[in-house]
Amino acid sequence: MRVSLVKKIVGVYGYPIGHTLSPLFQNAAFKELGLNFIYLPFLVKPKDLKKAIEAVKALNMVGVNITVPYKRAVLPYLDELSPEASKIGAVNTIHHYRGKLIGYNTDGEGFINSLKEEGNFEPEGKNVYLLGAGGAAYGIAFSLIKAGIKSLALTNRTKEKGELLLKHLKKFSPQGCILRFIEFNKRNSATLLKEIDLLVNATSVGMNSDDPLLINFEIFSREIFVYDIVYNKDKKTRLIEAAEERKFPYLEGEKMLIYQGAISFEIWTKRKAPIEVMKRAIKEKNAKVSYGW
Ligand code: ATR
Repeated sequence: MRVSLVKKIVGVYGYPIGHTLSPLFQNAAFKELGLNFIYLPFLVKPKDLKKAIEAVKALNMVGVNITVPYKRAVLPYLDELSPEASKIGAVNTIHHYRGKLIGYNTDGEGFINSLKEEGNFEPEGKNVYLLGAGGAAYGIAFSLIKAGIKSLALTNRTKEKGELLLKHLKKFSPQGCILRFIEFNKRNSATLLKEIDLLVNATSVGMNSDDPLLINFEIFSREIFVYDIVYNKDKKTRLIEAAEERKFPYLEGEKMLIYQGAISFEIWTKRKAPIEVMKRAIKEKNAKVSYGW
């Protein structure tokens, strides 16, 4: 790409940022559509976050993705939030539009779109078990509830954070949707595992190959769908290996990465994202473990 001809800059702010695969598939998509955009990774230290957000305006950038650990921290620096980002309380996409910085959250919608399109799984009416209560879990839980699930059981190593997410979700959940917190040391309760249809890992467990398997797959008495938002190009996570052993359908985190990125792409460019091109770009890359978007 001839940088001198590039007019529109987008990118991703995070700390750390070295593992991000977003530049790879976003730039492939811009090239495919002949768009004059470039997507760059930016390592932003916590003390510089405010200045980095102000730079989006100062440098006349089109926008940025926000990743770990800033999805909640950026909120005070934005001019507006989409209704969804405002309810979720986290932002992963900023659009610099008509002089304003507008915050969006595409994590949850990207998760649901990938679940339906890549996993052929319809969440409506289903019983879901969610592991984790970090930034990613907020968007995923919100979108699952919006998609009409029957129940959401949530567990998290740190009880306070799990209960905080649950409290947040209760504010906008329809009355029919059952929400409950499961103590982390009771996460393998047979009664619970026997009733779930979808298991989602939204913790960072699985990033390292020696990470433990959090769920005991021996207890499942029927097929469930497994979605691990962590992914590993060279080696499957233990959760995915366990799903494969039981011949359960599953999705790995790169699908969510691509689908959330596709929505960001559409916000910035107002063009339909070439999903197949994005998927191919990721497949061709000899990537190591990556997580966080
Ligand atoms: P993100 O924004 O990507 O979700 P995060 O906010 O740092 O990242 O959240 C990471 C999640 O993984 C949290 O739910 C965290 O649990 P805690 O709230 O107890 O920190 C979970 N997590 C990380 N390491 C874990 C481990 N070894 N065992 C269980 N849960 C873990």
